[in-house]
Amino acid sequence: MQIQNISDTALWVAEYRAREGDRPDAIVRDPFARRLAGERGAELARSLPGSGMEAVMALRTRVIDDLILEAISRERVDAVISLAAGLDSRPFRLELPPDLRWVEVDLPPLLAYKQEKLAGETPRCRYEAVALDLADVEARRALFTRLGAEVKSAFVLTEGLLVYLPAEAVTGLAQDLAAVPAFDFWAADVMGEDALKYMARTYNTALKKGQARMQWALPARGDFFGKLGWHEVSFASFVDLGRQYQREMPFSWLWDVFVWLAPEPKKQELRRMSGIVLLERA
Ligand SMILES: C[S@@+](CC[C@H](N)C(=O)[O-])C[C@H]1O[C@@H](n2cnc3c(N)ncnc32)[C@H](O)[C@@H]1O
Repeated sequence: MQIQNISDTALWVAEYRAREGDRPDAIVRDPFARRLAGERGAELARSLPGSGMEAVMALRTRVIDDLILEAISRERVDAVISLAAGLDSRPFRLELPPDLRWVEVDLPPLLAYKQEKLAGETPRCRYEAVALDLADVEARRALFTRLGAEVKSAFVLTEGLLVYLPAEAVTGLAQDLAAVPAFDFWAADVMGEDALKYMARTYNTALKKGQARMQWALPARGDFFGKLGWHEVSFASFVDLGRQYQREMPFSWLWDVFVWLAPEPKKQELRRMSGIVLLERA
């Protein structure tokens, strides 16, 4: 089975969430994931290389669940804005304040498919789906401006998006988000340059058939997000999270040796190889 377009990646990762939920020791249970992934998602996950993706997707989902719930309970966040939301079912499965706003943005065909699969399900908060191409800069700015005027404090999420964008598009998106005073927090999964090389080698042949490719890495030096108006609150590395949740990456012992042998500046870079970054407006 082949990836036909970028939105197929949403089916693919939904299948990993479904598989995690099947485990007796699941760290996250998404009751909608199997239905959303469908046979196509299952087939994509079977035919594409695994290479630790199942564990990373489970960890990513769990950590972002926790970050969102914590921000809602501790901060004055009254909205979650999920860009490239794909088949994420959080607004339907998390315990959320009913008056919280949850805005999902994705491409029209993906959202139409999701709507059909979730027909009859009740969101646990005030839910809005916006069909929009985030590459359309004017349209996304108009959306951000509207939302910025409607909410007090938003938590923005880009999960499984930045790696597929050209560097200038990541910069542009970061600036557009920073330009809206109500967008207080932003969580994203990021990869360093070495991780990107590995992932691109593993997946880009398959992704190319869907006109997609993994191409953006968080630069190791130079405080990338800091220059764009964002302050890093935390960075949770997938290697560390794998240990914490007993979802260790393949060959993680070898990785430890590698990090141990690396010179000091490289050590720091390797520790930030891939993970979830939580940013706050600077
Ligand atoms: C890897 S999936 C991640 C989905 C979801 N956030 C998750 O983690 O399960 C990537 C998503 O990005 C969406 N996407 C990619 N480019 C987009 C664009 N230009 N505008 C809107 N959505 C886009 C795709 O449709 C797809 O749903």
